Amino acid sequence: MEFLSLRLPVFFLLSVLIAKAPFGDAWGKEGHIMACKIAEPYLTEKTLKAVVDLLPETAGGELSTICPWADTVRFRYRWSSPLHYINTPGVCNYKYSRDCHNSHGEAGMCVAGAINNYTNQLYGYGNPSNQYNLTESLMFLAHFVGDIHQPLHVGFQDDEGGNTIIVHWYRRKTNLHHVWDSSIIETAMRDYYDNDLDTMVEGIKLNITGGWAEDVDNWQNCQNKRATCANDYAEESIKLACDYAYKDAEQNSTLEDDYFFTRLPTVKKRIAQAGLRLALILNRIFDSENSQQIQSY
Ligand SMILES: *[C@@H]1O[C@H](CO)[C@@H](O)[C@H](O)[C@H]1NC(C)=O
Ligand SMILES: *[C@@H]1O[C@H](CO)[C@@H](O)[C@H](O)[C@H]1NC(C)=O
Ligand SMILES: *[C@@H]1O[C@H](CO)[C@@H](O)[C@H](O)[C@H]1NC(C)=O
Ligand SMILES: *[C@@H]1O[C@H](CO)[C@@H](O)[C@H](O)[C@H]1NC(C)=O
Ligand SMILES: [Zn+2]
Repeated sequence: MEFLSLRLPVFFLLSVLIAKAPFGDAWGKEGHIMACKIAEPYLTEKTLKAVVDLLPETAGGELSTICPWADTVRFRYRWSSPLHYINTPGVCNYKYSRDCHNSHGEAGMCVAGAINNYTNQLYGYGNPSNQYNLTESLMFLAHFVGDIHQPLHVGFQDDEGGNTIIVHWYRRKTNLHHVWDSSIIETAMRDYYDNDLDTMVEGIKLNITGGWAEDVDNWQNCQNKRATCANDYAEESIKLACDYAYKDAEQNSTLEDDYFFTRLPTVKKRIAQAGLRLALILNRIFDSENSQQIQSY
């Protein structure tokens, strides 16, 4: 399909723009792909059928291939740019009414609002009077559930979620937001997982059935029957942003082993939570009978 086969120069130009723009780096491609790969085996048969039906042909039936898509349309769909994050007024808590809006003050235009928006649209699957492009709804939803779990996607207004905090990641100059989008993941992949994304996914899956097994029920616990628990996920993120991301990271800090070792477990856990909760949301939408809990595999 057209949208995935942008010709090279256009794509290159877009990448340059994305790299330069504040908030440009949404949770790196790897983070999104991994979260979606974690989700896939938890989809029920009925859910998977609907998902595959909605995926663009180029996805080859694999949800994870479309999970970075929303970042590639931030400029084509300018209105979608604020949907990737939340800013708080410099405080370590989140309030929907205070924080979930775009720069024009339009309510709901933030990542939590977007998750509920695209979830609601997808409830129209199979309804002939549905007016939305549900392929896009699915691609947005799968992406934004990833973003809301990246702690610095719920960060402070003043530093644009860490984008304006310039740091060194080992010897390389970057910004704090990018460290959490990409650098921690890339360093972990290089040091522990043979630079292979699937190997890292397997490692995270082992933690899900191992060390985290007892927490997993709590991650899935979402009393909100029709909407999602996006507000809870945002609240978790700003807490983690304060306790782990911003902590000991100031303008011109050099972040290396100490920071890496103590933050990596949080990054892995957020990817796991994003995956399981995406599966939960999709199962509730497409297979309400079998989705009280996520099906184990
Ligand atoms: C909801 O989705 C529609 C269609 O993509 C979009 O125009 C609108 O801005 C979205 N609103 C939010 C809060 O995500
Ligand atoms: C739905 O959105 C996708 C992705 O943007 C696009 O390729 C497709 O043509 C759209 N479908 C319709 C019916 O507009
Ligand atoms: C996750 O798995 C790794 C590798 O097997 C292990 O070292 C680590 O302790 C595990 N973490 C938890 C929380 O179980
Ligand atoms: C930033 O830190 C580096 C090394 O830690 C130091 O050499 C440099 O002078 C610092 N720059 C500023 C503007 O503080
Ligand atoms: Zn994003």
